[in-house]
Amino acid sequence: MLKLNRRIAAIKPSATLAADARATEMKLAGIDVISLAAGEPDFDTPEHIKKAADKALAAGQTKYTAVGGTAALKNAIKLKLKRDNNLDYEPPEIIASAGCKQAEANVINALFDEGDEVIIPTPAWVSFAAMVSLSGAEPKFVPCSEESGFMLEPEALRRAITPRTRGIMLNSPSNPTGAVYGPEQLTAIARVLVDTDIWVMSDDVYEHIAYGEFAPHLFHIEPRLKSHGIVFNSLSKTYAMTGWRIGFAAGPKEAIAAAGRLQSQNSGNPNSITQAAAIEAL
Ligand SMILES: Cc1ncc(COP(=O)(O)O)c(C=O)c1O
Repeated sequence: MLKLNRRIAAIKPSATLAADARATEMKLAGIDVISLAAGEPDFDTPEHIKKAADKALAAGQTKYTAVGGTAALKNAIKLKLKRDNNLDYEPPEIIASAGCKQAEANVINALFDEGDEVIIPTPAWVSFAAMVSLSGAEPKFVPCSEESGFMLEPEALRRAITPRTRGIMLNSPSNPTGAVYGPEQLTAIARVLVDTDIWVMSDDVYEHIAYGEFAPHLFHIEPRLKSHGIVFNSLSKTYAMTGWRIGFAAGPKEAIAAAGRLQSQNSGNPNSITQAAAIEAL
């Protein structure tokens, strides 16, 4: 049998992408199927965003850019974080990547090591556990019950923390449950985490795919979390740009710089045309 790297051999292909590929095959075969697998918005990328890409292409913006994104894109991300989330981040605290998935993979690889545990409230998006395992750390699943609205309860969180806990991945609105944490739940979770050195990661990719009030950000509710917190977001869902591959992370500059060094070696800058379109979108 082909000998592979131990960590790579242990990972399975993304179940959502596999199910989505199967749905596409079935559609091509003329079968009437609705795919609920990948989180794909049901509208097209807005015209003004596509036009910005056309313009960038015509202007020859087809070269390498700074690894973590152009200065203009980082500034647009900074403005977005302030406008939507009331969070202050400067450009060295921001990295743009080929999708939120890559930003998460790079940050997780930069922060965690063998022997570390990273808490993942479940049900959770399939890639979190794989990314954690690839870094050498261990995912520690904390089940969230239907009675709790599939939300992490502070007591369950407290019980899950061990001396090896180095991180937690929160995701609200949640894929797959749709659970949206409100200010009280966020405050209760913040209370458990604020005086620890656990990296608090907040995956906000579905923030605009929600009904009702726009939820305040965990790091706005408890600003002290920012010193050991990472925000992840993406243009995939909000702007229907899943195929363009652009997302970002924001956090303490040493952590972001480490993710940037990894990105500089394994992929480089996100697509230059996509970056121009992302500025228009944001
Ligand atoms: C919770 C969550 N985070 C991140 C992503 C990936 O986003 P991107 O397309 O920016 O890589 C997804 C995609 O479905 C997701 O569900």
